Amino acid sequence: MSRILVTSALPYANGDIHIGHLVEYLMTDIYVRAMKLAGEDVVYMCASDSHGTPIEVNARKKGMTPEEMVAEYNRRHLEDFTGFGIEFDRFYTTHSDETRIHAERIFSRLTEGGLIYKKDVEQYYCEEDKRFLPDRFVKGTCPRCGAEEQYGDSCEKCGATYDPTDLKDSFCVLCQKHPTRRSSLHYFVDLEKARPEIAKWVADEKHLHPEMRNWLEANFLKNELRPWDISRDAPYFGFRIPGETDKFFYVWLDAPVGYIGTTQKYCDEKGLDFAGYWEKGADCRIVHVIGKDITYFHTLFWPAMLHTGGYNLPERVQIHGFLTVNGEKMSKSRGTSITARTYLKHLDPQFLRFYYASKLGPGPDDLDLNLEEFALRVNAELVNKIANLASRSVALLSKRLEGKTGEPDPAAAELAASALEKVPSILAHYRNFEFSRAMREICAIAEVANKYLQDAEPFKLVGAEPEKARAILSSALAFVKSLAILIGPVLPLLKERTEKMFQATAPWTFADADFALAPAQLTPFDRLVDRVDPAVVEAMIEDTRAQFAPPPGPGDRVTPFKEIIEIDDFGKLDLRVATVLTAIKVEGSDKLLQVTVDLGREKRNIFAGLAAHIDPATLVGRQVVVLANLKPRKMRFGVSEGMILAAEDIDGKLSVLGPVTELFPGATIS
Ligand code: MSP
Ligand code: ZN
Repeated sequence: MSRILVTSALPYANGDIHIGHLVEYLMTDIYVRAMKLAGEDVVYMCASDSHGTPIEVNARKKGMTPEEMVAEYNRRHLEDFTGFGIEFDRFYTTHSDETRIHAERIFSRLTEGGLIYKKDVEQYYCEEDKRFLPDRFVKGTCPRCGAEEQYGDSCEKCGATYDPTDLKDSFCVLCQKHPTRRSSLHYFVDLEKARPEIAKWVADEKHLHPEMRNWLEANFLKNELRPWDISRDAPYFGFRIPGETDKFFYVWLDAPVGYIGTTQKYCDEKGLDFAGYWEKGADCRIVHVIGKDITYFHTLFWPAMLHTGGYNLPERVQIHGFLTVNGEKMSKSRGTSITARTYLKHLDPQFLRFYYASKLGPGPDDLDLNLEEFALRVNAELVNKIANLASRSVALLSKRLEGKTGEPDPAAAELAASALEKVPSILAHYRNFEFSRAMREICAIAEVANKYLQDAEPFKLVGAEPEKARAILSSALAFVKSLAILIGPVLPLLKERTEKMFQATAPWTFADADFALAPAQLTPFDRLVDRVDPAVVEAMIEDTRAQFAPPPGPGDRVTPFKEIIEIDDFGKLDLRVATVLTAIKVEGSDKLLQVTVDLGREKRNIFAGLAAHIDPATLVGRQVVVLANLKPRKMRFGVSEGMILAAEDIDGKLSVLGPVTELFPGATIS
């Protein structure tokens, strides 16, 4: 039995983990846990991908050093992953000596092997920001369809791909200025020289899903392999190229080396033998789990780097598809771009672990999180089939039969035997990343067990024939235990809670999934998992929408305009300029001022709700606008004979209106 080293792609330390990323980390965690329960010698390595232009630029924007920002995201990511029960053996960073040393080693072997050459490259350069602009930092007009504001590598409107220098009216996304062109010396890997090794690796059936192998052969290997540009000019956050002062390794050169660097760190900390994992010929199966967008880095460049560098090559690159929510790309405005943190604020991580597992297969197809189906499926399968079997049998056993299990019901022996027969195929499904099939088989067993329990009616027997009821419950609980083990890779928390209930002396492994149960004393029932409340799902969407809504500006406070009126409608209002004669606070009211105004023909008494907004003394002598033909209104403090007009500011403060220059009192307004 050889050891297994499993990795997930290294998340960029440049933003929060979202439910799209979680497809990958949950998928890998489920696989690793299954291998551990199967007794394999397996480790799970991951790290922050810490280098590159976006990280350097974003750190600067936040007023931090890249090191500080990377440390902050490294901490947040680990916190998010832990919240979802994702357990790495080591979560490190690519910005480390370990990764640098291995990256330099690979680079020098590539150089010795004659795979590196240098060539001048002309690129966009921003004179304002004093930097070369990578594809995503230049925008302009698409040379094919004329769409404006397209990125330097491809057009989102028409799908054309091109070189940034093909863009029309290009500008720098940082300062909006037109970039110039500048040339600089770049390092390239001549991939054609590694073609035999790459082609051989891709062709091996163990390594890739057939769909991905065909894709690589048709799109890359059939043609000449383009040289790979592995250098970037300063300013850059990354590893300096040995012998250079202002040139750095492109982030994708050292990123996968982070898998190696993290293993090195892990081995150094634990006193383990690093060579046993990564040295060429080591008896270790390396499994990389990645999303389909980063396939060619892991299946063309990476095998070439490892081969030339003298390292162990991956046995499997397991590629998953992309997450959509309700059939669409995750969206901030629709509230479906849900971060791991926001999810955890509202919902139990076990729900998502179960839901993803029930949808994941070994191929690169995209998967959809349909939020309505999410609630239905989790409630129908996880709660009704698996958790309820446990709660019903444990509740009765502890209430009526001192929580003691005994000999099983002979009538259930056949059911248990046929469930046991399914175990090898369930384990094989885990091994093959066929999680949806594993979930289906587990749920089918749970269904059988539920039916057995329902038909045997132990709650009716428990009074007259307690030992018969005990036997039935013991058989049901043998199912509960084995189901908790079999679904353990997906629901580690449910497994742990079940172990506690059964007072297990050590964590169960797959070998314990025997559909049998030695007589035992159970602790009272502990809740395994709650139901999904669709209202909480809705609250999570609302929360997400609010997080990404732009901060309210003055424009957002402007109430909609009223319906159109005729000029005659306006003519009905008799608006006049009036001079304030007296203004005092009304005793017994927080809101009202009593104001007397001169309207030329007559004086009026007006109660105005201005007390919280203006000092009455400052009103005296000022000219204001009065609605003079408003029907007099009797109030608690007297009769109000008109209305003083005021406007409301964003914070609710009122401002009294008046003419800009002084007029005679009673002047009309139109
Ligand atoms: N830093 C690189 C990986 C370097 S590995 C040596 C990277 N980081 S990432 O943060 O952008 O993505 C991490 C992983 O999450 C990738 O495998 C990516 O495919 C996956 N996903 C990101 N968004 C996803 C979805 N919406 N759906 C499924 N997987 C997604 O790429
Ligand atoms: Zn610029």
